[in-house]
Amino acid sequence: MSKRYDGKTVVVTGAAGGLGRALALGYAREGGELVILDIQAEGLEETAGMVRALGAKCTTFQIDLSKEEQIESVGAAILAQFPKIDVLYNNAGIAYGEVNTPIDRIPLDRFQFFLMVNTLSPLYFARVLRPALKEAKGCVINQSSMAAYQPAGVYGVTKATLNQLTWGMARMFGADGIRVVAVAPGLMETEASASSLGAEKHEEIRRLQMLSEKGSPEDIVNLGLFLGSEDARFITAEVMHCDAGHPFRAWRD
Ligand SMILES: NC(=O)c1ccc[n+]([C@@H]2O[C@H](COP(=O)([O-])OP(=O)(O)OC[C@H]3O[C@@H](n4cnc5c(N)ncnc54)[C@H](O)[C@@H]3O)[C@@H](O)[C@H]2O)c1
Repeated sequence: MSKRYDGKTVVVTGAAGGLGRALALGYAREGGELVILDIQAEGLEETAGMVRALGAKCTTFQIDLSKEEQIESVGAAILAQFPKIDVLYNNAGIAYGEVNTPIDRIPLDRFQFFLMVNTLSPLYFARVLRPALKEAKGCVINQSSMAAYQPAGVYGVTKATLNQLTWGMARMFGADGIRVVAVAPGLMETEASASSLGAEKHEEIRRLQMLSEKGSPEDIVNLGLFLGSEDARFITAEVMHCDAGHPFRAWRD
């Protein structure tokens, strides 16, 4: 039986664990060939092993997305190997710890670092891969957050700016038939979110949701599979929320 991503190439950043690993496995289960990247080599190889165990092809690239020159060189290596890319899922990001510092208390160089990883690297990476995305009439998906809609320190700034950047990218890349969207997850149960926020904070956030369910990485996988597919061919310049109706999102009204 044919699968939705048969014959398609999918690039996922931040795939050493958490949502990125779940996404890589999700696209692989649907028949996709995976190209996965992360700064953490060990976790990345672990994910690659899991993807291959599903019968899918998988190529890994270790990268530090805070470094423009690495985006250029790794991007060029990917282009040389994969002239047609159907989905670029810019998932890598720093969500916990120092990135939550209030905006008036963070030194400029650290602010710039977080902006580079969370906000600008998706643009620069997509720019390098643009010829392959054009070839496939592909799709770029940027991983935003519900934190984009609340005063959430530096992290909130990086994700709110990523939404704006998504709209700008959609306009630029649309000329080549490439769609660009963002996904804004609410609280998803990942190892990183569990260890950084703790059970009490998880409970507090969930109490505010309109639905009481726990967010699972699979909820993001299902959305990513839809957005990257032909079923979403008329959707671009959109931020899709997946947060059980979290009221933080109401900040945009
Ligand atoms: N889990 C949630 O509840 C949640 C909610 C909203 C948004 N998000 C977003 O989803 C994405 C994944 O979150 P997660 O919970 O899986 O966290 P995670 O920390 O498990 O995953 C992030 C990945 O990005 C990688 N990364 C970080 N800096 C990098 C760099 N400089 N170069 C290359 N890779 C780098 C990390 O090594 C890690 O594997 C992030 O962008 C996060 O902001 C997560």
